Amino acid sequence: MSLKALPKVELHLHFEGAAPPSFIRGLAQEKSVNLTGVFNEDGSYAFRDFVHFLSVYEAATEVLKTPQDFARLTRAVLEESANHGVVYTETFLSPDFCGGRDLGAWREYLHAIQEEAAACERDMGITLRGIVTPIRHFGPEKAKETALCAAETVGDFLTGFGLAGDEAKGKPKDFDYSFDMAREAGLRLTCHAGEWGGPQSVRDAVRDLRVERIGHGVRAIEDLALVDELAEKGIVLEVCPGSNVALGLYRSFRHHPIEELRKREVKVTVSTDDPPFFHTTMTREYEMLNAAFEWNEDDFKTLNLAAIDAAFCDDATRDRVR
Ligand code: ADE
Ligand code: ZN
Repeated sequence: MSLKALPKVELHLHFEGAAPPSFIRGLAQEKSVNLTGVFNEDGSYAFRDFVHFLSVYEAATEVLKTPQDFARLTRAVLEESANHGVVYTETFLSPDFCGGRDLGAWREYLHAIQEEAAACERDMGITLRGIVTPIRHFGPEKAKETALCAAETVGDFLTGFGLAGDEAKGKPKDFDYSFDMAREAGLRLTCHAGEWGGPQSVRDAVRDLRVERIGHGVRAIEDLALVDELAEKGIVLEVCPGSNVALGLYRSFRHHPIEELRKREVKVTVSTDDPPFFHTTMTREYEMLNAAFEWNEDDFKTLNLAAIDAAFCDDATRDRVR
């Protein structure tokens, strides 16, 4: 079987970050939004480094104005994922970009996304679940409003709560109120850490936010006692190797610590993060891992079983996907 056709489970995908550039350009034209600086001449997203990437990402979201725009985005994203064999995916949704954290507006956006996701599941057999994600550099107060949106809409579709954005801004503990609210509402928890912050950032997220998964987490490799602790506690890493290489964290796939983390029995999974920004797809991630570490079809099957075990979905969904 080709790696493209292999059924895949993805746990770490930013919804706006998965928007094809052509989709964003099309909406910009329809709505006469000026997106100067967002694209290179060849039409790809333009960014110099991680902080610039975050600002280009936010600029691109300016064209996503209505629930209907997000419904269209849902189909564009899921078509692309399904084309690469993805059968189950979780995506980060931010009420900051969906109605400005207003609960009434958020409900409408979420409804539109959920309805379209259900239609895509019928059409393409791909299942989507949502993880509400405040943006770290927007600060803890906005995160509380975001957590309230999440807590009020938890359900079959909305199953998780996370934290994305600039890891250099603030500490996980600043967000404990929001994570406590999300946990009490029944949401499963993850947090970006150990991407731009070192091992201490991962430790802080595990201790202060009591998350069961970490977004990236790869810099745990700089502290082998922490690696052992992650393995022992069964904390799952949502590893996005292509994103890390594209953003300059590692020189190439061969220099990426995913293989070492796996050998040290950390539960690793593989995702794309923001695929069109980083010129990647789930197929490309698998091909690059195959080329760098000779991971074969059996390795990828094991990887996907670990991912579905760690998925923020109910057991009936898990059994169906497995
Ligand atoms: N938002 C979108 N992509 C991100 C990443 N790789 N890290 C943190 N926040 C993000
Ligand atoms: Zn991410």
